[in-house]
Amino acid sequence: MAVREILQIPHPVLRQRARKVRAIDDDILRIAYDMVDTMRNASGVGLAANQVGELLRVIVIQLPEEEEARIYINPEITLREGERRVEEGCLSIAGYKGMVTRSLWIRFRALDHTSKVVKLRAEETLSQALEHEVDHLNGILYTDHMEAHEKLVKVEPEDEKVPDLDEGDDSHTDNIEDQPHTSHNPESDLWLPEDDPRNTPATLKLK
Ligand code: NI
Repeated sequence: MAVREILQIPHPVLRQRARKVRAIDDDILRIAYDMVDTMRNASGVGLAANQVGELLRVIVIQLPEEEEARIYINPEITLREGERRVEEGCLSIAGYKGMVTRSLWIRFRALDHTSKVVKLRAEETLSQALEHEVDHLNGILYTDHMEAHEKLVKVEPEDEKVPDLDEGDDSHTDNIEDQPHTSHNPESDLWLPEDDPRNTPATLKLK
C-alpha cells in the first residue's frame, strides 16, 4: 500500500466522470487501499479515485470517530432529503474552505471491498462526505455548490486572473440545466460544460 499524490485543481481529471468498476479485482483493491493510506496521511475524511488520478468509481471514507475506513465501489445516492448549510473543504483544493448546501440525509448504496452490497441511510458528516465524494466521481467540486456572493466575498480583489464575479453577470450560475451538457453526467444538473468559466481555477483564489 502506498500514499499517492493528491491531484490539485485545476487538474483535468478532477473534472472528468469516473467509470463504473466492472470487477472488484486485486488492481481495484490496490487502488482502494492506496486511497485509504493517502486519505489518512492527509488527515482527510474522504477521498475519491479521481483525486489520485484514477477514473474509477471508488471512494473511501473514514469518519473521525471511526477506526476503520469504508471502501465503497460504484456508490450511488438514491435519495436526498432536506437541506442544510455546512462548511466544507477538499484535499484537492488544499488550504481553502467554503459554505455549501448539502442534504439533511440521504440513502446510499454501493459495493464494499468484498463485493457485498451496502445500503444505508446517512446523515450528518457521513451524508456530507458521501455527497462530496460521489460528486468527485462526476467531476463536481464543492465550490460548484457555492453561491456567487459567497465566492465574491472570498476572491482576492488584486488577482487579475479571477473572473469578475462581482460585476453583475452571474448568468453562468443560473439555469445550469438549460445549458448544453458535455462529458455526460445524466444524474446531475450541476455538471458544467467544458467552457464554463467555473472550470477555470477561479475558486483556487478563494481565501
Ligand atoms: Ni474533495
